[in-house]
Amino acid sequence: MNAAGARPRVFVARLIPDDGLRPVVDACDARVWEGELPPSRDELLRAIEGCDGVLALLTDRVDHEFLDRAGPQLKVVSNFAVGFDNIDVPACTRRGIPVGNTPGVLTETTADLAWALLMAAGRRIAEGDRFVRAGRWKTWGPMLLLGPDVHGSALGIVGFGRIGQAVARRAMGFGMTILYYDTRRADAAIEAGFGATFVSLEELLARSDFVSLHVNLTPETRHLMNAERLGWMKSGAVLVNTSRGPVVDQRALFHALRDGVIFGAALDVTDPEPIATNDPLLTLDNCLVVPHIASASRATRGKMAAMAAANLLAGVRGERLPTPVNPEVYEGR
Ligand code: DGY
Repeated sequence: MNAAGARPRVFVARLIPDDGLRPVVDACDARVWEGELPPSRDELLRAIEGCDGVLALLTDRVDHEFLDRAGPQLKVVSNFAVGFDNIDVPACTRRGIPVGNTPGVLTETTADLAWALLMAAGRRIAEGDRFVRAGRWKTWGPMLLLGPDVHGSALGIVGFGRIGQAVARRAMGFGMTILYYDTRRADAAIEAGFGATFVSLEELLARSDFVSLHVNLTPETRHLMNAERLGWMKSGAVLVNTSRGPVVDQRALFHALRDGVIFGAALDVTDPEPIATNDPLLTLDNCLVVPHIASASRATRGKMAAMAAANLLAGVRGERLPTPVNPEVYEGR
């Protein structure tokens, strides 16, 4: 209940699985955006006016303008994602608004997709499927669609958090050499558990046959993979990105793939999203692109919905969010 005893007013920015939608609709005066596409900026700003809470998606930009339009009664922004680069978190913190995300529940599902992309790009699965459908399969060919071995090769993991480590666990089953780079070195026990070696980014790129990106998007990681760093990779190497599109300079990636600087790439995320259908990357057979589906298993999306709902409901009730990204907002309360 809000101060006037009414049910809290909330906006849910897209249809989400029932595991999260039901508790929100049961407890709140909820408006749910039912369109397949996100609300336009104007529609979003109109919809959040006067709300006590907003359940946002990574397609919704939460910034000063958003917070101003929502109004001073806004108590919580709950993001339906583990990443929160769509949210100006310091601006929320300054206004005392907790921000929630959905860590943990999508780790393994996201790692599964990173692994699928790594395998698919290395072994040219999508390309092979196109080859067959185009009627180009004439015979078994000793030189047909050759690619690198996955087993026994070297995997470089950039960003060794939950998801990076889950990818490392999969790599262990393939007997891979695991290298990692992060801004902070992991505990010795974690390194030992994975048999993972901490190296500089330059060394990781130079030694890896597969490079998988698992960093948050920040000003420091924007275009982390630029022309220079792509140039440090082996010519037979594959780049996998399931983090955020802008971590890779897509124009530089196009040149690197077209000119044979690297062997292949597989992207779950692009910049912008969706990628334009006339983007030069989509003309390349050695670039595999899927539409940001790393966490898209039924079970995981249900858990994400439940977690986002729990954050939203705690926030509108004035309780501590189960998973706040800005816990400092509670200091001194
Ligand atoms: C996230 O949660 O940040 C993913 O990119 C979407 O599942």
